[in-house]
Amino acid sequence: MSKSALITGIAGQDGFYLAELLNKKGYKVFGVMRGQSNPKTEEIKKSLPYVNIIEADLTDQSSLSRAIEVATPDEVYNLAAVSHVGYSFKNPQLTVDVTGKGVLNMLEAIRLTGGSKSVKFYQASTSEMYGGVGDNMPKTGYNEESPFHPRSPYGVAKLYGHWITINYRESYGMFASCGILFNHESPKRGMEFVTRKISNAVARIKLGKQDYIELGNLDAKRDWGFAGDYVEGMWRMLQQDKPGEFVLATGETYSIKDFLTASFKEIGITDWKPYVKQNSAFMRPAEVNILLGDSSKAERELGWKRKVDFEQLVKTMVQSDIEAES
Ligand code: NAP
Ligand code: GDD
Repeated sequence: MSKSALITGIAGQDGFYLAELLNKKGYKVFGVMRGQSNPKTEEIKKSLPYVNIIEADLTDQSSLSRAIEVATPDEVYNLAAVSHVGYSFKNPQLTVDVTGKGVLNMLEAIRLTGGSKSVKFYQASTSEMYGGVGDNMPKTGYNEESPFHPRSPYGVAKLYGHWITINYRESYGMFASCGILFNHESPKRGMEFVTRKISNAVARIKLGKQDYIELGNLDAKRDWGFAGDYVEGMWRMLQQDKPGEFVLATGETYSIKDFLTASFKEIGITDWKPYVKQNSAFMRPAEVNILLGDSSKAERELGWKRKVDFEQLVKTMVQSDIEAES
């Protein structure tokens, strides 16, 4: 009999790639969408026609219990979150409710419907939990043993989700794993994140639809990979004999300036400065200056390694936006 998987955050970037992967592997896929008339529902029905949509909200535990009863999943991937770091400073309590307490709601929904021993659970933890100020990062990057120092309401809420997942494993014997994922991007990335904001603006500048782009801090550095590679790692975590924590990263870090250089190069522009304005509205009250991940454990134990490199990622995103905007 085919396995069944429940994905929260199905309408997000990772929800899309994970649904595609699980469908190819023969899973019956259920996806949680929130809202009474979520405008993305029609889009999801078209792009992921095999997904069984369940209306539920991470802040409403009873709706999650119902989702578990409907899907009777072998695997639950908890991807839903308020996921934008900048937004989390403006809406910190909502962020705690969804990104933090929402994880507890999902775990309780599994436990109270009798799934503690039968359901495997994946929590979308994040490199934002390391935060830091840049000078406490190991030279080879953060790994599963590195201390946490979140720098945003989002990072703090995710840290709660991370530890409550580990706590449910230790308390109730649940198969509950956390993927500590570094930034991963794609043409499906939300427009509010810096990579897609840049790739889309570059496409529009090429097509004469836009003159410049406004950005915040250009010096921050991130370890950027391709989302399609990372969902493969999530799935592999739940195929292990034992649950655990795993870092997924590329092991390389680039600045926003590097991303601008590579993106503008795609449209034949070598000096991007005339096309970029800095706007303090996009600065954060506290910044994570640099992120670099060490995914040796995932390579060793999951046989996972990223396939797409930085240049390929930028190229794919810019070309996809040129096509979409043409
Ligand atoms: P995303 O595109 O922002 O998707 C998040 C999804 O969560 C959205 O579809 C959103 O629904 C849904 N959601 C928000 N509030 C909800 C609620 N109250 N109830 C139910 N659903 C709700 O994020 P992503 O990039 O795919 O990332 C997936 C997960 O991995 C997130 O938890 C994120 O924090 C984490 N993560 C991401 C990265 C990364 O670089 N992408 C790295 C590390 C960890 P709507 O579509 O209706 O808004
Ligand atoms: N969004 C955004 N918009 N970021 C900007 C801008 C801008 O106009 N200008 C500069 N930046 C800088 C941010 O200050 C940050 O240092 C960097 O670009 C990356 O910002 P985002 O793309 O918003 O991603 P993030 O690193 O803050 O968070 C993403 O990655 C995390 C994993 O490390 C999100 O996907 C999180 O959900 C995820 O956990």
